[in-house]
Amino acid sequence: MVEIKNLVVIGAGQMGTGVGQVALMAGFNATMVDIKDEFVKKSYANIDEGMKKLEAKGALKGKSAADFMANCKTSINIASAVKNADIIIEAVVEDMAIKKQVFKTCDENAPAHCIIASNTSTMSITEMATATNRPDKVIGMHFFNPVPLMRCIEVIYGAKSSDASVNAGINFAGKLPCLRGPRYVAKVLKDRPGFIVNRTTAPVQIYQNYIFDKVEAEGKTWEQLDNDSGGPMPTCVLADFVGIDTIYHGLKYYERTLSPDFAPGKVITRMFNEGLLGAKTGKGFYDWSKGRPAPDKKAGKARLFKLQYPIAIMVNEGCRILEEGIATSWKVIDDALMAGMNMPGPMAPNVANSEKQVEVLKELVELTGKKYFEPCELLKSAKWVDMK
Ligand code: CAA
Ligand code: NAD
Repeated sequence: MVEIKNLVVIGAGQMGTGVGQVALMAGFNATMVDIKDEFVKKSYANIDEGMKKLEAKGALKGKSAADFMANCKTSINIASAVKNADIIIEAVVEDMAIKKQVFKTCDENAPAHCIIASNTSTMSITEMATATNRPDKVIGMHFFNPVPLMRCIEVIYGAKSSDASVNAGINFAGKLPCLRGPRYVAKVLKDRPGFIVNRTTAPVQIYQNYIFDKVEAEGKTWEQLDNDSGGPMPTCVLADFVGIDTIYHGLKYYERTLSPDFAPGKVITRMFNEGLLGAKTGKGFYDWSKGRPAPDKKAGKARLFKLQYPIAIMVNEGCRILEEGIATSWKVIDDALMAGMNMPGPMAPNVANSEKQVEVLKELVELTGKKYFEPCELLKSAKWVDMK
């Protein structure tokens, strides 16, 4: 197996920065690459700030933040930055053309043994690999936001990825620390849109788009909508946190690859076009200038978002994941959701509820007119329950 010492991260935004930090914490060398000097400087400063927090808590095993930062470099030139790379993690914007250009430059300049991984949320690893002459060494490594706090990393097979490359990715992922417990590395067996975690939740976004547009049409507020939902981050806070651009590009990709029902709704399209991208631009559904917003409970509820629908949608999508062979066990789906989103998976609580969920989904098709919500064969047969 390739011995990994040198990581190069291309795209030093919110995800790339997190990946760089955990790699440095594990003792790897990390080079952060972006298109402008100010972006890599900001990324370096953010990693340094995180390291100093850990140092102040005595969480760096007797080492100082400076010891780790000595292994961190920055660059605005991909070609020279990857010359000694053992692994590259691409975390640029969710745009296939840009990703393929990055993969091509990496392939032309990195050593022959170097693995090139994408942190894409949704897109085809197989297609990115076509931009290289080393498709066997191209894999997916999908992290969750914020990387230092979320336990899951999905390691994904492209159509031509070798077992050796996937295993090297799994081995590397397993060495990256997480501040909230042990790393969970999910092996994704097929390169399908959204992989496991995002695919399970992807069609919930069809429902959310429907609700966002309804909230606006009925003159309700985002705070009221967030008071309808539970979870570690309510709907609109999480959307801002992930980034409206990432959500928009993901929906467009699912629209092309899974169903036209994924087309972004009016609210998300307008926010994307107006650059209201959430935490990264300081404004999205909420104003982030004073940090992460906390919806005021006193604002009341919108009473539009009904939790039974996302649950039924996710059980159905979990069954599609099993039907398509992306995973072979529903336990992996549940475990990956817990590790990637701090959210209990939908499958275990529903082993005895297939029939009920089929009815809920039929009701949802009636309500929204979205055919994608129709129950799949594996859910209708209830045979998924045996795929533990
Ligand atoms: N370095 C060092 N320390 C850090 C740090 C860093 N980079 N980041 C955070 N910390 C520290 C904080 O300072 C804090 O320390 P103290 O407890 O000493 O104050 C501690 O870690 C916890 O941080 P927070 O206070 O921010 O944590 P929280 O309790 O508010 O929980 C959360 C934050 C874990 C993110 C929680 O809100 C959550 O689970 N949210 C859901 C997030 C989610 O769903 N993510 C997945 C999105 S989807 C995705 O990523 C995939 C995709 O492709 C789009
Ligand atoms: P971001 O906008 O914070 O960062 C992207 C960075 O890439 C920016 O700094 C940008 O300047 C840089 N960039 C753009 N083109 C480049 C190029 N040609 N060369 C080098 N750098 C370039 O975005 P993000 O949220 O960090 O997302 C990055 C990737 O990670 C996307 O593919 C996204 O789908 C995926 N992802 C995002 C999340 C999330 O919650 N935000 C979670 C998992 C995966």
